[in-house]
Amino acid sequence: MKIALLGCGNLITSIFEGVAKHDMLLKENTFSTYTPSMTRAQNLADILQGKHVLSPESLESKDIYILGFKPQSYTAAMEQYKKIIPSGAQIWSVLAGINVDRLSKDFPDNPILRIMPNICSKVGQGINLYIHSKDFPERGLEKFHQLFGAVGNSYLMNSDDELDFITGVSGCGPALIYNFLETLEKSLETTSLSKDDRKSIVINLAIGSIDLLANSSEGLEGLRRSVTSNKGVTHEALETYRERKLEGITLDAMKAAYKRSLELRSQ
Ligand SMILES: NC(=O)c1ccc[n+]([C@@H]2O[C@H](COP(=O)([O-])OP(=O)(O)OC[C@H]3O[C@@H](n4cnc5c(N)ncnc54)[C@H](OP(=O)(O)O)[C@@H]3O)[C@@H](O)[C@H]2O)c1
Repeated sequence: MKIALLGCGNLITSIFEGVAKHDMLLKENTFSTYTPSMTRAQNLADILQGKHVLSPESLESKDIYILGFKPQSYTAAMEQYKKIIPSGAQIWSVLAGINVDRLSKDFPDNPILRIMPNICSKVGQGINLYIHSKDFPERGLEKFHQLFGAVGNSYLMNSDDELDFITGVSGCGPALIYNFLETLEKSLETTSLSKDDRKSIVINLAIGSIDLLANSSEGLEGLRRSVTSNKGVTHEALETYRERKLEGITLDAMKAAYKRSLELRSQ
């Protein structure tokens, strides 16, 4: 298929660098890239063995147009792209806060796919939430699974609202986990450990715990129980989390993230 990448920033570059590792995907598709300042379009075109164009107007007709710029640029960019995207071509968008309804209103003659990837695509462990317009072709979904499947797992959403809510976990999740690990690292500051050792202990902890989880049939609760003996040391630490209502704090954080995504949607 002929694919145009409109915007080649951090996210689109990390996803398509992953795609470029698969010779078959490079053979089956042709890629054209565009960014206003050209450099990142040129870099990504080289990686994808494709072409970069100097202006959207010089793009030849494509099967798929992937919108990968910032949501703040959407209104101006949409006016420009309306003129060059042929009717029937698929529009895939990764823009946060721009829902399928809005995209369908602006591009009424195009099937729409809205995707919310996360930053872990960079290491091939991404989470892609997606939802599409009713007229979206099966062949387009197969292509989506092929390309985005190269960098992570994909999950179909029931509604844009659901996508925005789950983004609190999948999209904000890496930052939440890093923040939690930061608190553990900070708790070691009163010890004699060097900064490097504190950092490496926390990284080891995260990787080891996740490896254990990925290789165990017990699940989160089972593993937590297996390292918590009754009235033992871990039990005491977890009791503090329970008393201070860690679960409630997390739910509140998810609600706050969702509220913010609704605010961004209406801007
Ligand atoms: N980063 C993430 O983890 C993440 C996760 C989920 C969703 N998203 C969504 O992904 C999108 C991109 O985010 P990002 O972090 O990759 O942004 P970014 O690094 O700032 O990249 C934005 C890209 O858009 C280009 N651009 C600006 N105006 C354009 C236009 N009119 N037409 C085509 N390209 C244009 C920029 O060109 P220049 O190179 O010339 O500046 C740049 O290449 C956002 O909508 C964001 O909501 C990001």
